[in-house]
Amino acid sequence: SRSINLALIPGDGIGPEVVAQGLKVLSAVLPQDVKLETKEFDFGAKRYHATGETLTDADVEALKQYEAILLGAIGDPSVPSGVLERGFLLKLRFLFDHHVNLRPSKLMPGVSTPLKGQPEIDFIVIREGTEGPYTGNGGSIRTGTPQEVATEVSVNTAFGVERVVRDAFARAQARPRKKLTLVHKNNVLSFAGHLWTNIFNKVAAEFPDVTTDYLHVDAATIFLVTDPARFDVIVTDNLFGDIITDLAAAVSGGIGVAASGNINPSREFPSMFEPVHGSAPDIAGQGKADPTATVLSVALLLRHLGYEAEAVRIEDAVSADLSERGDTTRTTEEIGDALAGRVAG
Ligand code: IPM
Ligand code: MN
Repeated sequence: SRSINLALIPGDGIGPEVVAQGLKVLSAVLPQDVKLETKEFDFGAKRYHATGETLTDADVEALKQYEAILLGAIGDPSVPSGVLERGFLLKLRFLFDHHVNLRPSKLMPGVSTPLKGQPEIDFIVIREGTEGPYTGNGGSIRTGTPQEVATEVSVNTAFGVERVVRDAFARAQARPRKKLTLVHKNNVLSFAGHLWTNIFNKVAAEFPDVTTDYLHVDAATIFLVTDPARFDVIVTDNLFGDIITDLAAAVSGGIGVAASGNINPSREFPSMFEPVHGSAPDIAGQGKADPTATVLSVALLLRHLGYEAEAVRIEDAVSADLSERGDTTRTTEEIGDALAGRVAG
């Protein structure tokens, strides 16, 4: 019989509330013969205040035993900015080699968008997850003086760029429109930009049925607002991907519905699935958080583990729920119950 061995990291703020609903929907969608085993980990602000630790070597070893990780959100105003980001989230992305940061954007029927009309929005962003300006490669001299000089070096390896570009081509090829857009800034970032462009063009030759396009990142932000229908699959570097996926979320229903996967396609280490939103401490514990982004992240998790039919059932349930939602206000749990009810066979 089949089984899923899942690490749960509810985290801070609204994290525990949304993860509980994600788990509820996961349990509801899985066929009887699939055994779901979960273990909860207490990473986040509370643990940091109690022990000064964010993620120890032993924690990393423990997490390696799981097939996948479901994360709520980590972060609290009581922890200095950057500590949990670097000490937990980015550390896991780097150690588990989550080089494919997958962020789909789909404007579902009935969902409001700040854009004019009801444009067709159905694209995925593949954000590189382990390189670029996120590597912490830089420094500062004469720190704190008027003569301070700070550098933040973007690291781009041929190996790292090629593997994410290949992944993006493969995903584009599997979609009906088969279109891949490289987003970068190669008119200014000449070294990294040329590496990305050269590798993109080289790999493109192996995927003749995929239509390719290139946009500078600034132009891409314009089109995401004026003509989002032009996008099918986007591949881009870590920082550009961070920025454009917040914009993409904003135009396609907001961060309440934006899901993401930090994926290691080789499955050498567990991939981690999380809503794009943060811990929202201002509404924590009030049952106000929308668990939809977490539930959609569960769909990405299932797809990654090979449960395609179950992933589609969740996505269909969310689509139906959103289109019938209207102006009604429901609690976190009510939305979770509704989705669990819809996916249950
Ligand atoms: C995200 C977040 C993180 C990032 C932060 C919290 C480090 O904004 O997942 O998009 O920049 O990657
Ligand atoms: Mn971000």
